[in-house]
Amino acid sequence: MSGPSVPFPSENELYSNAWAKDIFKGKVVFCTGGAGTICSGQVRALVSLGANAAIVGRREGNTKNVAAEIAKVRPGATVIGFGCDVRDADALVSVVAETVKQLGRIDFLICGAAGNFLSTVEGLSTNAFKTVMDIDLLGSYNTVKACLPELRKTKGRIIFVSATFHYTGAALQSHVSAAKAGVDALSHTLAIELGPAGITSNVIAPGAIANTEGMERLVARTGVPEDLKKNPSKMNPLGRWGAVSEVADATIFLFSEAGRYINGVALVVDGGSWRTGNAP
Ligand code: HXC
Repeated sequence: MSGPSVPFPSENELYSNAWAKDIFKGKVVFCTGGAGTICSGQVRALVSLGANAAIVGRREGNTKNVAAEIAKVRPGATVIGFGCDVRDADALVSVVAETVKQLGRIDFLICGAAGNFLSTVEGLSTNAFKTVMDIDLLGSYNTVKACLPELRKTKGRIIFVSATFHYTGAALQSHVSAAKAGVDALSHTLAIELGPAGITSNVIAPGAIANTEGMERLVARTGVPEDLKKNPSKMNPLGRWGAVSEVADATIFLFSEAGRYINGVALVVDGGSWRTGNAP
Protein backbone atom coordinates (compact mmCIF):
# COMPACT_ATOMS: atom_id res chain seq x y z
CA MET A 1 0.00 0.00 0.00
CA SER A 2 1.66 3.25 -1.09
CA GLY A 3 -0.15 5.43 1.42
CA PRO A 4 -3.61 5.94 2.76
CA SER A 5 -6.14 6.52 -0.01
CA VAL A 6 -8.72 7.14 2.67
CA PRO A 7 -7.20 8.91 5.71
CA PHE A 8 -5.86 6.92 8.61
CA PRO A 9 -7.11 7.94 12.06
CA SER A 10 -4.77 10.43 13.68
CA GLU A 11 -4.63 8.75 17.09
CA ASN A 12 -2.81 5.55 17.83
CA GLU A 13 -3.54 5.02 21.52
CA LEU A 14 -4.43 1.78 23.30
CA TYR A 15 -8.03 2.96 23.78
CA SER A 16 -10.01 6.14 24.44
CA ASN A 17 -9.89 7.96 27.78
CA ALA A 18 -13.35 6.64 28.73
CA TRP A 19 -12.15 3.84 31.01
CA ALA A 20 -11.13 3.70 34.66
CA LYS A 21 -7.78 2.09 35.51
CA ASP A 22 -7.81 -1.45 36.95
CA ILE A 23 -11.37 -2.26 35.86
CA PHE A 24 -10.16 -5.72 34.82
CA LYS A 25 -7.95 -6.40 37.86
CA GLY A 26 -8.08 -10.14 38.68
CA LYS A 27 -9.61 -11.07 35.31
CA VAL A 28 -8.03 -13.40 32.76
CA VAL A 29 -8.52 -13.18 29.01
CA PHE A 30 -7.89 -16.08 26.60
CA CYS A 31 -7.51 -14.96 22.99
CA THR A 32 -6.95 -16.92 19.79
CA GLY A 33 -5.33 -15.02 16.95
CA GLY A 34 -3.75 -13.05 19.75
CA ALA A 35 -0.53 -12.31 17.88
CA GLY A 36 -2.40 -10.56 15.07
CA THR A 37 -2.75 -6.80 14.88
CA ILE A 38 -6.40 -6.42 15.91
CA CYS A 39 -6.47 -9.12 18.61
CA SER A 40 -3.14 -8.12 20.14
CA GLY A 41 -4.57 -4.59 20.36
CA GLN A 42 -7.64 -5.91 22.16
CA VAL A 43 -5.53 -7.92 24.61
CA ARG A 44 -3.06 -5.09 25.16
CA ALA A 45 -5.93 -2.80 26.15
CA LEU A 46 -7.43 -5.34 28.56
CA VAL A 47 -4.04 -6.06 30.13
CA SER A 48 -3.31 -2.36 30.57
CA LEU A 49 -6.60 -2.10 32.48
CA GLY A 50 -5.64 -4.88 34.90
CA ALA A 51 -6.20 -8.27 33.23
CA ASN A 52 -3.72 -11.08 32.72
CA ALA A 53 -3.84 -12.98 29.45
CA ALA A 54 -3.07 -16.05 27.40
CA ILE A 55 -2.75 -15.59 23.64
CA VAL A 56 -2.76 -18.34 21.05
CA GLY A 57 -1.18 -18.22 17.61
CA ARG A 58 0.00 -20.71 15.04
CA ARG A 59 3.61 -19.50 15.07
CA GLU A 60 4.85 -20.27 18.57
CA GLY A 61 7.96 -18.08 18.59
CA ASN A 62 6.15 -15.06 17.23
CA THR A 63 3.24 -15.56 19.63
CA LYS A 64 5.57 -15.73 22.63
CA ASN A 65 7.32 -12.55 21.46
CA VAL A 66 4.00 -10.72 21.11
CA ALA A 67 2.95 -11.95 24.57
CA ALA A 68 6.16 -10.56 26.05
CA GLU A 69 5.55 -7.21 24.31
CA ILE A 70 1.96 -7.02 25.58
CA ALA A 71 3.09 -7.77 29.15
CA LYS A 72 5.23 -4.61 29.10
CA VAL A 73 2.09 -2.47 29.01
CA ARG A 74 1.54 -2.87 32.76
CA PRO A 75 4.11 -3.64 35.48
CA GLY A 76 3.25 -6.99 37.09
CA ALA A 77 1.15 -8.24 34.16
CA THR A 78 1.38 -11.88 33.12
CA VAL A 79 0.81 -12.68 29.45
CA ILE A 80 1.47 -16.20 28.17
CA GLY A 81 1.95 -17.06 24.49
CA PHE A 82 1.03 -20.50 23.16
CA GLY A 83 1.71 -22.04 19.77
CA CYS A 84 -1.50 -23.82 18.79
CA ASP A 85 -3.61 -24.26 15.66
CA VAL A 86 -7.31 -23.72 16.40
CA ARG A 87 -8.11 -26.56 13.97
CA ASP A 88 -6.63 -28.94 16.56
CA ALA A 89 -9.33 -29.33 19.22
CA ASP A 90 -7.21 -31.54 21.50
CA ALA A 91 -4.32 -29.08 21.46
CA LEU A 92 -6.71 -26.30 22.46
CA VAL A 93 -7.92 -28.31 25.45
CA SER A 94 -4.30 -28.69 26.59
CA VAL A 95 -3.59 -24.98 26.15
CA VAL A 96 -6.69 -24.05 28.14
CA ALA A 97 -5.61 -26.42 30.94
CA GLU A 98 -2.15 -24.83 30.99
CA THR A 99 -3.69 -21.36 31.08
CA VAL A 100 -5.80 -22.25 34.11
CA LYS A 101 -2.78 -23.87 35.75
CA GLN A 102 -0.72 -20.70 35.33
CA LEU A 103 -3.36 -17.95 35.58
CA GLY A 104 -6.07 -19.62 37.66
CA ARG A 105 -9.19 -18.92 35.60
CA ILE A 106 -10.64 -17.66 32.32
CA ASP A 107 -13.14 -14.79 32.45
CA PHE A 108 -13.04 -13.45 28.91
CA LEU A 109 -12.72 -15.33 25.64
CA ILE A 110 -11.87 -13.65 22.35
CA CYS A 111 -12.17 -15.94 19.32
CA GLY A 112 -10.06 -14.03 16.83
CA ALA A 113 -8.03 -16.60 14.90
CA ALA A 114 -8.67 -16.18 11.19
CA GLY A 115 -7.13 -17.09 7.89
CA ASN A 116 -7.96 -15.31 4.69
CA PHE A 117 -6.71 -14.56 1.20
CA LEU A 118 -8.41 -12.89 -1.72
CA SER A 119 -9.65 -15.16 -4.47
CA THR A 120 -12.48 -15.54 -6.91
CA VAL A 121 -14.67 -18.59 -6.44
CA GLU A 122 -13.11 -20.07 -9.58
CA GLY A 123 -9.64 -19.57 -8.08
CA LEU A 124 -10.49 -21.57 -4.97
CA SER A 125 -9.99 -25.31 -4.65
CA THR A 126 -12.28 -27.28 -2.37
CA ASN A 127 -9.41 -27.48 0.08
CA ALA A 128 -8.84 -23.71 -0.08
CA PHE A 129 -12.48 -22.98 0.80
CA LYS A 130 -12.41 -25.65 3.50
CA THR A 131 -9.18 -24.31 5.00
CA VAL A 132 -10.69 -20.89 5.71
CA MET A 133 -13.92 -22.44 7.00
CA ASP A 134 -11.86 -24.70 9.28
CA ILE A 135 -9.73 -21.91 10.73
CA ASP A 136 -12.41 -19.23 11.08
CA LEU A 137 -15.57 -21.19 11.89
CA LEU A 138 -14.60 -24.64 13.14
CA GLY A 139 -11.66 -23.06 14.99
CA SER A 140 -14.05 -20.71 16.81
CA TYR A 141 -16.25 -23.64 17.74
CA ASN A 142 -13.25 -25.64 18.99
CA THR A 143 -12.12 -22.70 21.08
CA VAL A 144 -15.49 -22.19 22.73
CA LYS A 145 -15.80 -25.91 23.48
CA ALA A 146 -12.36 -25.95 25.11
CA CYS A 147 -13.04 -22.85 27.23
CA LEU A 148 -16.64 -23.51 28.18
CA PRO A 149 -16.00 -25.44 31.43
CA GLU A 150 -13.92 -22.49 32.67
CA LEU A 151 -16.39 -19.85 31.45
CA ARG A 152 -19.19 -21.63 33.33
CA LYS A 153 -17.20 -21.27 36.57
CA THR A 154 -16.66 -17.51 36.10
CA LYS A 155 -19.91 -16.60 34.32
CA GLY A 156 -17.62 -15.42 31.56
CA ARG A 157 -17.99 -13.35 28.45
CA ILE A 158 -17.30 -14.33 24.84
CA ILE A 159 -16.46 -12.08 21.88
CA PHE A 160 -16.07 -13.39 18.35
CA VAL A 161 -14.14 -11.19 15.93
CA SER A 162 -16.14 -11.29 12.73
CA ALA A 163 -16.50 -8.96 9.72
CA THR A 164 -19.12 -7.08 7.72
CA PHE A 165 -18.62 -8.35 4.17
CA HIS A 166 -21.24 -11.07 4.53
CA TYR A 167 -23.91 -8.42 5.25
CA THR A 168 -23.85 -7.33 1.63
CA GLY A 169 -21.63 -9.81 -0.20
CA ALA A 170 -18.09 -9.00 -1.28
CA ALA A 171 -16.12 -10.11 -4.33
CA LEU A 172 -13.08 -12.32 -3.70
CA GLN A 173 -14.27 -13.21 -0.18
CA SER A 174 -16.73 -16.10 -0.61
CA HIS A 175 -14.86 -18.39 1.76
CA VAL A 176 -14.32 -15.88 4.57
CA SER A 177 -17.82 -14.41 4.12
CA ALA A 178 -19.38 -17.85 4.54
CA ALA A 179 -17.17 -18.54 7.55
CA LYS A 180 -17.93 -15.24 9.27
CA ALA A 181 -21.67 -15.65 8.67
CA GLY A 182 -21.31 -18.96 10.47
CA VAL A 183 -19.36 -17.33 13.29
CA ASP A 184 -22.17 -14.80 13.76
CA ALA A 185 -24.73 -17.61 13.85
CA LEU A 186 -22.63 -19.54 16.37
CA SER A 187 -22.45 -16.50 18.64
CA HIS A 188 -26.18 -15.79 18.43
CA THR A 189 -26.93 -19.41 19.36
CA LEU A 190 -24.51 -19.38 22.27
CA ALA A 191 -26.08 -16.18 23.58
CA ILE A 192 -29.34 -18.07 24.00
CA GLU A 193 -27.88 -21.39 25.16
CA LEU A 194 -25.39 -19.94 27.64
CA GLY A 195 -27.31 -16.89 28.86
CA PRO A 196 -29.01 -18.94 31.58
CA ALA A 197 -25.53 -19.84 32.88
CA GLY A 198 -24.68 -16.13 33.14
CA ILE A 199 -22.40 -16.21 30.10
CA THR A 200 -22.76 -13.60 27.34
CA SER A 201 -21.76 -14.06 23.72
CA ASN A 202 -21.35 -11.20 21.27
CA VAL A 203 -19.70 -10.41 17.96
CA ILE A 204 -17.46 -7.48 17.15
CA ALA A 205 -17.44 -6.80 13.42
CA PRO A 206 -14.56 -4.51 12.47
CA GLY A 207 -14.69 -2.69 9.16
CA ALA A 208 -11.58 -1.47 7.39
CA ILE A 209 -8.98 -1.08 10.13
CA ALA A 210 -5.76 0.72 9.21
CA ASN A 211 -2.38 -0.99 9.39
CA THR A 212 -3.70 -4.55 9.41
CA GLU A 213 -2.54 -7.40 7.18
CA GLY A 214 -6.04 -8.03 5.85
CA MET A 215 -6.56 -4.39 4.92
CA GLU A 216 -3.18 -4.06 3.24
CA ARG A 217 -3.80 -7.20 1.17
CA LEU A 218 -7.22 -5.93 0.15
CA VAL A 219 -6.02 -2.52 -0.99
CA ALA A 220 -2.99 -4.04 -2.73
CA ARG A 221 -5.25 -6.40 -4.70
CA THR A 222 -8.28 -4.24 -5.44
CA GLY A 223 -7.11 -0.66 -4.85
CA VAL A 224 -9.49 2.08 -3.80
CA PRO A 225 -11.67 3.63 -6.52
CA GLU A 226 -10.56 7.12 -7.63
CA ASP A 227 -13.81 8.83 -6.64
CA LEU A 228 -13.46 7.45 -3.12
CA LYS A 229 -9.96 8.90 -2.85
CA LYS A 230 -11.48 12.31 -3.60
CA ASN A 231 -14.51 11.74 -1.39
CA PRO A 232 -13.75 9.25 1.42
CA SER A 233 -17.14 9.79 3.03
CA LYS A 234 -18.66 7.98 0.07
CA MET A 235 -17.01 4.85 1.43
CA ASN A 236 -17.06 5.77 5.09
CA PRO A 237 -19.34 8.38 6.65
CA LEU A 238 -16.57 9.33 9.10
CA GLY A 239 -14.14 9.80 6.21
CA ARG A 240 -11.33 7.59 7.48
CA TRP A 241 -10.32 4.01 8.18
CA GLY A 242 -10.71 2.68 11.71
CA ALA A 243 -7.96 2.24 14.30
CA VAL A 244 -7.04 -0.88 16.26
CA SER A 245 -7.70 1.15 19.42
CA GLU A 246 -11.29 1.64 18.33
CA VAL A 247 -11.85 -2.12 18.17
CA ALA A 248 -10.20 -2.29 21.61
CA ASP A 249 -12.67 0.28 22.96
CA ALA A 250 -15.61 -1.86 21.83
CA THR A 251 -13.98 -4.89 23.46
CA ILE A 252 -13.48 -3.08 26.76
CA PHE A 253 -17.09 -1.95 26.71
CA LEU A 254 -18.50 -5.44 26.13
CA PHE A 255 -16.28 -7.01 28.81
CA SER A 256 -16.82 -4.21 31.34
CA GLU A 257 -19.63 -3.96 33.85
CA ALA A 258 -21.23 -1.45 31.48
CA GLY A 259 -21.73 -4.30 28.98
CA ARG A 260 -23.27 -6.79 31.39
CA TYR A 261 -26.76 -6.81 29.80
CA ILE A 262 -25.56 -6.99 26.19
CA ASN A 263 -25.93 -10.50 24.80
CA GLY A 264 -26.37 -11.80 21.27
CA VAL A 265 -25.45 -8.65 19.37
CA ALA A 266 -23.06 -7.95 16.51
CA LEU A 267 -21.37 -4.67 17.37
CA VAL A 268 -20.14 -3.17 14.11
CA VAL A 269 -17.02 -1.01 14.46
CA ASP A 270 -16.71 0.51 11.00
CA GLY A 271 -17.70 4.17 11.18
CA GLY A 272 -20.94 3.31 9.39
CA SER A 273 -19.06 2.09 6.33
CA TRP A 274 -21.03 -1.03 5.40
CA ARG A 275 -24.26 0.96 5.25
CA THR A 276 -22.88 3.04 2.36
CA GLY A 277 -22.76 -0.07 0.15
CA ASN A 278 -19.19 0.92 -0.82
CA ALA A 279 -17.35 -0.77 2.03
CA PRO A 280 -14.35 -2.96 1.14
C1 HXC B 1 -6.24 -19.46 -3.86
C2 HXC B 1 -5.11 -20.40 -2.04
C3 HXC B 1 -4.47 -19.15 -1.78
C4 HXC B 1 -4.78 -18.04 -2.64
C5 HXC B 1 -3.84 -20.61 -0.29
N1 HXC B 1 -4.68 -21.26 -1.11
N2 HXC B 1 -3.71 -19.33 -0.68
N3 HXC B 1 -5.97 -20.55 -3.07
N4 HXC B 1 -5.65 -18.25 -3.66
N5 HXC B 1 -4.23 -16.84 -2.45
C6 HXC B 1 -5.06 -22.66 -1.05
C7 HXC B 1 -3.89 -23.60 -1.15
O1 HXC B 1 -3.48 -23.78 -2.50
C8 HXC B 1 -4.48 -24.88 -0.55
O2 HXC B 1 -5.34 -25.53 -1.45
C9 HXC B 1 -5.38 -24.35 0.55
O3 HXC B 1 -5.64 -22.98 0.24
C10 HXC B 1 -4.71 -24.42 1.90
O4 HXC B 1 -3.48 -23.71 1.83
P1 HXC B 1 -2.30 -23.98 2.88
O5 HXC B 1 -1.24 -22.99 2.63
O6 HXC B 1 -1.94 -25.42 2.86
O7 HXC B 1 -3.05 -23.73 4.27
P2 HXC B 1 -2.48 -23.22 5.64
O8 HXC B 1 -0.98 -23.42 5.73
O9 HXC B 1 -3.31 -23.79 6.69
O10 HXC B 1 -2.65 -21.63 5.55
C11 HXC B 1 -3.91 -21.05 5.76
C12 HXC B 1 -4.13 -19.86 4.84
C13 HXC B 1 -2.99 -18.84 4.91
C14 HXC B 1 -5.47 -19.22 5.24
C15 HXC B 1 -4.22 -20.37 3.42
O11 HXC B 1 -3.28 -17.73 4.07
C16 HXC B 1 -2.71 -18.37 6.29
O12 HXC B 1 -2.01 -19.02 7.02
N6 HXC B 1 -3.21 -17.21 6.71
C17 HXC B 1 -3.03 -16.74 8.10
C18 HXC B 1 -2.79 -15.30 8.12
C19 HXC B 1 -3.94 -14.54 7.55
O13 HXC B 1 -4.67 -15.01 6.70
N7 HXC B 1 -4.10 -13.33 8.01
C20 HXC B 1 -5.14 -12.45 7.52
C21 HXC B 1 -6.28 -12.54 8.39
S1 HXC B 1 -7.27 -11.15 7.99
P3 HXC B 1 -4.88 -26.84 -2.32
O14 HXC B 1 -6.09 -27.23 -3.11
O15 HXC B 1 -3.73 -26.40 -3.18
O16 HXC B 1 -4.49 -27.88 -1.32
C22 HXC B 1 -8.81 -11.68 8.07
C23 HXC B 1 -9.86 -10.62 7.98
C24 HXC B 1 -10.00 -10.20 6.60
O17 HXC B 1 -9.10 -12.79 8.20
C25 HXC B 1 -10.24 -8.71 6.53
C26 HXC B 1 -10.24 -8.21 5.08
C27 HXC B 1 -10.65 -6.74 5.01
